[in-house]
Order: sequence, then structure tokens, then C-alpha cells
Amino acid sequence: MANAVLEMIDVTQVFGDKANPTYALRSVSLQVEQREVVIIMGPSGAGKSTMLSIAGGLLRPTAGRGVIDGTEITRLGDRALAAVRLRGIGFVFQDFNLLESLNVIQNLELVLARAGVRGRAATARAHEILRILGLEQRMDYRVGLLSGGERQRVAIARALCNNPTVIMADEPTASLDGKRGAEVMTMLRMIAHDMGKAVLMVSHDHRVLAYADRVVWLQDGLLENREPESMATIAAPQH
Ligand SMILES: Nc1ncnc2c1ncn2[C@@H]1O[C@H](COP(=O)(O)OP(=O)(O)OP(=O)(O)O)[C@@H](O)[C@H]1O
Ligand SMILES: [Mg+2]
Repeated sequence: MANAVLEMIDVTQVFGDKANPTYALRSVSLQVEQREVVIIMGPSGAGKSTMLSIAGGLLRPTAGRGVIDGTEITRLGDRALAAVRLRGIGFVFQDFNLLESLNVIQNLELVLARAGVRGRAATARAHEILRILGLEQRMDYRVGLLSGGERQRVAIARALCNNPTVIMADEPTASLDGKRGAEVMTMLRMIAHDMGKAVLMVSHDHRVLAYADRVVWLQDGLLENREPESMATIAAPQH
């Protein structure tokens, strides 16, 4: 795949010991391209978060390989891996993981500082990202005063600060109502389609399917590719 910025190749993850193993992933392979929103769906315990942790270099798999931007992350030592994570990947979490007592700009500046960008350069970069995402009116607000939807959009802005290749999001809409969830998904799609990032996210929520370019279904650690249309009927709630 010419523009694959993220690859997982035959990844297996086993938790526990030999007497009582849990196969969280069984020889899973996935490629994600630039400008693509890929959503991993599947029931609780299917291995979705495990898959995202390995793809993002937060967890080393029992077997198999992971490649980000051409670098095989599964072979890197801890420091090199942390550097690839910092520059290559922006993480977004269900519960935002922002520092609530700091304001929006300060939350972004903290992440920029970790990549060595400080002072006026950091402030300028934070302004730029917040402007692109339409959040400039909130930049001096303390995060604790923002709504859930605003917090998640700030978390996405933070994830974009270091100009990563891939944005990874684990259940980014799970704490939000339908309207706020739709705003967050619209933003993630814009980041892929207009800003050229790859977006890999995990969700239980069938409402996010409309925003996917591709959906992969995970069950008992096994991966299956499906088209969003067919997924919609499978994932829709039963009445
Ligand atoms: N650190 C761990 N130690 C032991 N078992 C684990 C660990 N992390 C995950 N597991 C097990 O691996 C399997 C997959 O877990 P995972 O969290 O990836 O599922 P998930 O699809 O994200 O579920 P959910 O939708 O509930 O978040 C589960 O059986 C889980 O109990
Ligand atoms: Mg999970």
C-alpha cells in the first residue's frame, strides 16, 4: 500500500501465563493510509484497546510487527519508541485526560514542551492549531469550565500539536451525547481528509460509522474487514 502510514503485521497478543492464557489478538494485520478514517468496532473484550495500544507503541506485542511511518516500532528500545510516539502519534482518550486546572493553551503547551517546543514558538503553534479547529475563542478558558464536547475537541487539538502522522482515539465519543459526538467525529474526519492525517479509532457506537472510510470488525481477537454500509445494519441497535 503506497501511503500506508501505519501497519500491523501478524500481531498476536497473549495475556496471562501458559496455564491460563488470554488471546487478546490472534495474528491480526491492518494497514492504515494517510487521509483515512479507520474505525475498529467489536464487542467488549474483543481486543480493540489492545490493538490500539500496540499500534500506538504503548504495548509490545507477544508476536508480530508494527510499523509507523516506515519505522518498525516493535524493534525499538524504550527511548526510541517514546520518541516515535511523541512525534508520530497523537492520542485521544474517552475521558479527555486534560489537566482541568490549566487553561486550554497551557494544556497544549505542555505537550509541545515535551517535544522541545517552548516559549513563543509553543504559544504560536498552539494558537495555530486552535484556530484551525475553530477553538480560538476558548484558548484562555480553564479546561474545567468547558463542556464535554469542547474538552474532547481540545484533546484533539492537543493530539495534533506535534504534527503527528496518525491520530489514535479510543472511544472518543463514548462520554458525549449525540450532537457533541457528531462534532467530534466531524473534526476527526476533517483532520484526515483536509489535514492529511490518518485516524485510527475504536468505538462501540454505531453512530460513528457514517464518518468512517473503512470499518474493521474485531471479535475474539480476530479481525475482519467490512464496508460501512453492511456494518450499519449489524451495529444498529435492536428494537
Ligand atoms: N493487561 C492485561 N492483562 C490481562 N488481560 C488483559 C489485559 N488487557 C486486556 N486483557 C484482556 O484481553 C482481552 C481484550 O481486552 P481489550 O481491553 O483489548 O478489549 P476491548 O475490545 O477494548 O473491550 P472494551 O470494549 O470493553 O473496551 C480481554 O479479555 C481482556 O480481559
Ligand atoms: Mg477497550
